[in-house]
Amino acid sequence: MPTALKLEFAPLTTTPKGVLIVLCEESLKYSAAARKVLEPCEDLLARAAAADGFKGKNGSALEIVAPTGIDLTRLVVLGVGKGRDLKEQDFVKLGGIAMGKIPSAASAATIIADLAGGGMEPADAADLALGVRLRAYAFDRYKTKRKENEEQAKEVKVTVAVAGVAAVEKAFGSRKAVGDGVLQARDLVNEPANVLYPEEFARRVGDLKKLGVQVEVLDVAAMKKLGMNALLGVGQGSEHESQLVIMRWNGGKKGSDPVAFIGKGVCFDTGGISIKPASGMEDMKGDMAGAACVVGLLQALAARKARVNAVGAIGLVENMPDGKAQRPGDIVTTMSGQTIEIINTDAEGRLVLADVLHYVNTRFKPKFMIDLATLTGAIIVALGHEHAGLFANDDKLADRLLKAGIATGERLWRLPLGAEYDKKIDSKYADMKNTGGRDGGSITAAQLLQRFVDKTPWAHLDIAGTGMGSPQTDTNKSWASGFGVRLLDRLVADYYEK
Ligand code: BES
Ligand code: MN
Ligand code: ZN
Repeated sequence: MPTALKLEFAPLTTTPKGVLIVLCEESLKYSAAARKVLEPCEDLLARAAAADGFKGKNGSALEIVAPTGIDLTRLVVLGVGKGRDLKEQDFVKLGGIAMGKIPSAASAATIIADLAGGGMEPADAADLALGVRLRAYAFDRYKTKRKENEEQAKEVKVTVAVAGVAAVEKAFGSRKAVGDGVLQARDLVNEPANVLYPEEFARRVGDLKKLGVQVEVLDVAAMKKLGMNALLGVGQGSEHESQLVIMRWNGGKKGSDPVAFIGKGVCFDTGGISIKPASGMEDMKGDMAGAACVVGLLQALAARKARVNAVGAIGLVENMPDGKAQRPGDIVTTMSGQTIEIINTDAEGRLVLADVLHYVNTRFKPKFMIDLATLTGAIIVALGHEHAGLFANDDKLADRLLKAGIATGERLWRLPLGAEYDKKIDSKYADMKNTGGRDGGSITAAQLLQRFVDKTPWAHLDIAGTGMGSPQTDTNKSWASGFGVRLLDRLVADYYEK
């Protein structure tokens, strides 16, 4: 499948070139536009469908290479089931499936975005186009050689043929902004840690200034002054300076309290002195997926000029073993004044977030705070890769997040917080310790975070299982998912704009 995508919209009457993809409803029902184009190969199509038992069931496909009677290299019929049952997520998925059917050799493809029963709204066609865009992403910038029989990746022009071009283009505007945010997040997560260390990460966030986002970078000296010793302790074994990056998008009413998003940005997590086993450690280049999501989100909000005041804050560190590294048994005083005994230097994400949460809460007095973090392996044991863990001190915020998750397919599952769990991180020597034992590991991690949020409505998303290494889907074949960007953009759009 080719990487470089040129996406265009055209009227339904456009003449398809190269690969043609049409939609087909149950009992082989095609839209009028598809029937018109397919007229010269009507017989062939009917025979192929019969031979393959293709009936238009949702998720099924019929593919004919070099069909006779029509000037195409390939004809793909995508079954959609009952057209009127299709929801937002189904259209996004259909776009992804369609993109997946375009072979790498192709340079042009047309998707006829129309249904037999009518009812393909501009928003539906735009959702389909978003799916095309998300699926076309690949992280191949370090591939200098290709296998012999592999086609050179080249640009492919995908034309989405629609009933009303102007209306679909308008609907696609905000989706393109969000889609670009997702791809930005994926790029950051996929990038190896020798390239993307805290200072380089902070430098890349600077690109958001072009969209009108204010970007402020606090270095180690500035964080020392603020007393962010929990965050700094994690990074002190690294050759790379830790960084705190604050992004601000002010698209809302002047002076109205912002919404705030906080990301764990551990650019590489070796575990530190409590070093991780070698097997699979390379995946810890993605331990900044929370931060990547916050960057992608702020980019999306700015690009679609969201009417909201938003703050994004990411704590960027590298967790390394070294002569200067933090030790188990060390006690650090956080910016909030509370002290933490380090039991395991591999439980570092919560230490970073403790200081960033307190900083954001006290400086910005936000409406709510949502943090995203690849925080615990335990959340993968509990929920696999299909749901992110949701923890919240506020039912309304939790419900809104759950709803946004269902709408976008970036699903969440709520887990409990409570005094019994909180007790497990009490320490003999300090106010708390940074691990609460094996049992309920994701919950005790969340309890530590909660000690740094006071009364502000807050939610914590543990994305260790969903941000990276999740199973490939119709809309993502890359290791990094960009999880959270669409979810949080939707939360803002549905509840916090105006
Ligand atoms: N970054 C890891 C969590 C993680 C694991 C993310 C697998 C993605 C995939 C985190 O910093 C960590 O090491 N957590 C420890 C905590 C433990 C030491 C209390 C864990 O989950 O084992
Ligand atoms: Mn760790
Ligand atoms: Zn980590």
